[in-house]
Amino acid sequence: MDLADVSRIGVVGAGTMGHGIAINFALAGYPTLISDQNDGILAESKARIQAALDLFVEEGLISRRRADEAVSLITGTTLEDLAGQCDFITEAIVDRSSDKRALFNRLDELCPPQTIFASNTSSLVLSDFGSDVKRQDKIVLTHYFAPPHIVPGVEVAKGPGTSDETYELTCDLMAAARKVPIRLKMERPGYLLNTVQRALGQAATDLWAEGMASAEDIELGIITTFGFRMPHEGPMKHYDLAGLWRWPEDVRGSWASANEQMKQRLANGRPWFIDPERFDEALDARDREYARRLKALYWTDTLD
Ligand SMILES: NC(=O)c1ccc[n+]([C@@H]2O[C@H](COP(=O)([O-])OP(=O)(O)OC[C@H]3O[C@@H](n4cnc5c(N)ncnc54)[C@H](O)[C@@H]3O)[C@@H](O)[C@H]2O)c1
Repeated sequence: MDLADVSRIGVVGAGTMGHGIAINFALAGYPTLISDQNDGILAESKARIQAALDLFVEEGLISRRRADEAVSLITGTTLEDLAGQCDFITEAIVDRSSDKRALFNRLDELCPPQTIFASNTSSLVLSDFGSDVKRQDKIVLTHYFAPPHIVPGVEVAKGPGTSDETYELTCDLMAAARKVPIRLKMERPGYLLNTVQRALGQAATDLWAEGMASAEDIELGIITTFGFRMPHEGPMKHYDLAGLWRWPEDVRGSWASANEQMKQRLANGRPWFIDPERFDEALDARDREYARRLKALYWTDTLD
C-alpha cells in the first residue's frame, strides 16, 4: 500500500490523545472515524474537537471554513464500522497491555488484510501487546506528544516484524498530516523522547527533594536557561555549539559520559552537527536566533 491508497483514517480511543490525533488527520483532509467505549464519550470528544479547532481559528492558524470542514470530516462510530472502512487505524486507548492486545487482536479479525494498525502507547512495546497479530508487517508505533494536534514531532518505531513499506508509509502519512516524523531505529519502553524527558524530570525532582531549590525556582531556571535555548538546539547540538569538541583533550575527556561511543567522539574532537571550519558562522546564526527570542520573550528596553 502507498500513501495514495490511504483514503480513510480510524482512531480508537477518543480521549486526551485520540481527539487531537483525529484533528490532525481531518485538517489534512482525511475522512476520519473515531470510536470509544460509548456514545457519551464520543459526544464529549466531538465537543473537545470543536473547541480545539475554534482555538486554532481564534489564534489565526486556520480559517473558520477549514475548521468547519475538519469537523465535518470526523465521525464517531463503532469499532466494527471503523474497522471495515479505514486503511490506517491508530489506537489511543488506555495504556494497559492487556487492553491493547485485545484491541489489536479484534482489529486483526475485523479489518481487511491491508489495513495498518498504529499504536500511540507511551510505555508499552509492540513486541509485547502486538505479538498475536497475524499482520506483523503492518503494525507500527506513532507516538504523539500532548496536545497532539499542536506539538509537531511524532516518534515512529517498528515492532519486530514491521515492514519497511509500512514504516515508510507511516512516516509519509505523518508528514502529509503536517507532523514531523522522528525515525526511531528500535522499540523500548518510553521510546526515545520520554526516556530523555524522564531523565530531566528525575534530576529536577531529586534535586527538589534534596532541598536544592524551590519548585518555582527549578522551573524558572530551566525555562530561562537551557529551556530558552531548546527551540534552537537539543543537548547534542548544544555540546557542539559549546565547543566541547575543541576543548583540551584532558578536559573534554573528563566530561564524557560512561558510554564508549561518546568517549571516542570526544577523543577524536568531532562535533555532530557543525563544520569545524565554520564554527564562527554557526555561533553567529545561533546568537541571532537567541537575540530574536530574547526580544520576543524578555526584552523590555525600547530603541532610543
Ligand atoms: N496523555 C498523554 O500526554 C499521552 C502522550 C503520549 C501518548 N499517550 C498514550 O496515548 C494513549 C491514550 O492516552 P490518553 O491520555 O489519551 O488517555 P485517555 O484516558 O484520555 O483516553 C483514552 C480513551 O480510550 C478509551 N478506551 C479505553 N479502553 C478502550 C477500549 N478497549 N476500546 C475503546 N476505547 C477505549 C477511554 O474511554 C478513553 O476515552 C495511551 O496509550 C498513552 O500512553 C498519552
